This record gives sequence, structure tokens and C-alpha cells, in this order.
Amino acid sequence: MNTNSIPVVDVARLAHSTTLEELDEACRSWGFFQVTNHGIDTAAVSNLHAAMREFFALPMDAKRAISRTQGNPWGFYDRELTKNTLDQKQIFDYGPGDGQLRAPQWPAGLPTFRRAVIDYTRSCEKLAYKLLAAISTNLGMAPGYLSRAFGSSHSSFLRLNYYPVTDPSNGFGVHHHTDAGALTLLLQDEQAGLEVFRNGAWHLVEPRRDALVVNVGDIVQVWSNDRYRAALHRVTASVAKPRFSAPYFFCPDYRATYEPVPTEIDGARPARYRPISWGEFYRLRTAGDYADLGEEVQIGHYRI
Ligand code: OGA
Ligand code: NI
Repeated sequence: MNTNSIPVVDVARLAHSTTLEELDEACRSWGFFQVTNHGIDTAAVSNLHAAMREFFALPMDAKRAISRTQGNPWGFYDRELTKNTLDQKQIFDYGPGDGQLRAPQWPAGLPTFRRAVIDYTRSCEKLAYKLLAAISTNLGMAPGYLSRAFGSSHSSFLRLNYYPVTDPSNGFGVHHHTDAGALTLLLQDEQAGLEVFRNGAWHLVEPRRDALVVNVGDIVQVWSNDRYRAALHRVTASVAKPRFSAPYFFCPDYRATYEPVPTEIDGARPARYRPISWGEFYRLRTAGDYADLGEEVQIGHYRI
């Protein structure tokens, strides 16, 4: 197992061409990197760590009282299937309400939880737009080009993950997968467990107190016409101590459609994907979280 080899990108230096080149290289060769000087307030980070621990320590009844449902994806869940296999984890998802079925749910009796989750999510949103502008530039487009798919009502959400101590024979914390959105910004605690697949081997993503982990999702892979790859990753079962992590999934408006950007298409490398509707893709993907409906939808299904 290789450690410590995931690239590091200094967000404070993203205006410099050398840093943009480092980002491009990280997206091309790994699809995974750590970001330092990310601008998320240390208090927001430590409040979120505390909130995660408080929430998952609640009695199961209190957590199940705010379970997500097939109509409302926001809330608690502990039966998630990745690759049609049960993951050894509990989750809490927070995302935007739509005035109808979708609505954030909050646990009773945790007065600071809501504020911590909302503040941290807001900071992630800012950082995600910054990284997206840099990626847009690296793909030869104007900095604001890719963000047009997000608009005022993007479908990004924050997930809190709790991986209880379990026997590894029960399987993984999360089975290998790629993330379906554009980018994922992940806060992990000091417990190692996240691994990324590259060149035929699994590599540990070393926890770093001063950094967040960022990975390219399926949408960036499509935009870049495979210049960047959404890296396969997984979380091993927690054997000694429980593990907590918080991915922010940066996702476009449900009405958005994505396809390779013009600068990544030419005669030698024609578009490799047909246009994909995010709303449709997401509906198909999440349906598989609830029941084994056969093979999970993958962007590969949209390959030309
Ligand atoms: C995920 C994921 C990694 C982690 O939730 O999609 O890959 O470290 N999580 O929790
Ligand atoms: Ni993931």
C-alpha cells in the first residue's frame, strides 16, 4: 500500500499558472488531491467534527425519527447500498428543500447541530466554485463556463458518514465507486480508511488536519471528455476506532445537461459521451440505494 502520494494543491495560489498546472496534473493522473489553504474557517471545521460525533451518538430511535425516505432524500439512513452491496456505515444527508417533498430534517435536542451543518456547507459551496473555475480554465474555457450548470438552485448536498467499528468480514465501509456529481470535497477525521485506485493498486488517502480531500466526479470526467477520470475509491471497514467523514457533493441543477466541452473535442478525439441529464441520472442512481434493482447506472452507459 502506497501512502502520502496523493497530490497537494495550495488553493491560495490558484491564480498562479504553476498551481493551475499542478491542479491539471492532479486531475489527470489521480482524480484525487488534498487542498491546503482552502479558506474554510477552522471553527467551522471543528464545529462540524463535534456535530458529527454528537449526532451519531444519539440513540437509534432519535436518528431513525429523521430517516430519509424515497420522496425526501435528506435525513438519516443506515441501509445504503453501493454496487448493490450493504455498506457498513450510517449517514445523515443535508441538502436544499424544494418547497414540496424535499426538506432538510433536524434531530431534536441538538441545538448547535443545524447551525454547524449549514455554516460548513456554505463554506464548501464557496470553495467548490473556486475549484470549478480553475478546472474550467484548465479545460481552456472561461472561468465561469462550467458553473453555468449550477445556477441558483444546484443540487449539492452535505453527507455526514459514521463508520462504526465492525468486523472486516462484514465488508467495506463503502464499496468501491466513483462519485456521480462534479466534485466532492471531503473532510475526514484522523482515522485512516479512504483508499483510491490508481495504476492497479489501492492507495491510502492519508488524513491531514490542515487539508480537505477533493475528488473529480463523473460529471467532470464527462466535461473533460476523459482528460480527467473520476477515480474509483472505497472505505475499508473500521477495525480499531470508529471513523467520521463529511463529503460535500457539488452537483448541478437537476435541469442541467452535461456533455464534453468544445475545447476537449476535435477530429482526433471526438465526443465520447452523449449529453446526460443530471436529473435523470441522479434519479436512476439513487433508486439503486434503496433496493437492489439490478446493475447500478454508470456514466459508461452514456459512452458513444
Ligand atoms: C462517499 C465516500 C469517503 C469517506 O461517501 O462517497 O467516498 O472517506 N466517502 O467517507
Ligand atoms: Ni465517494
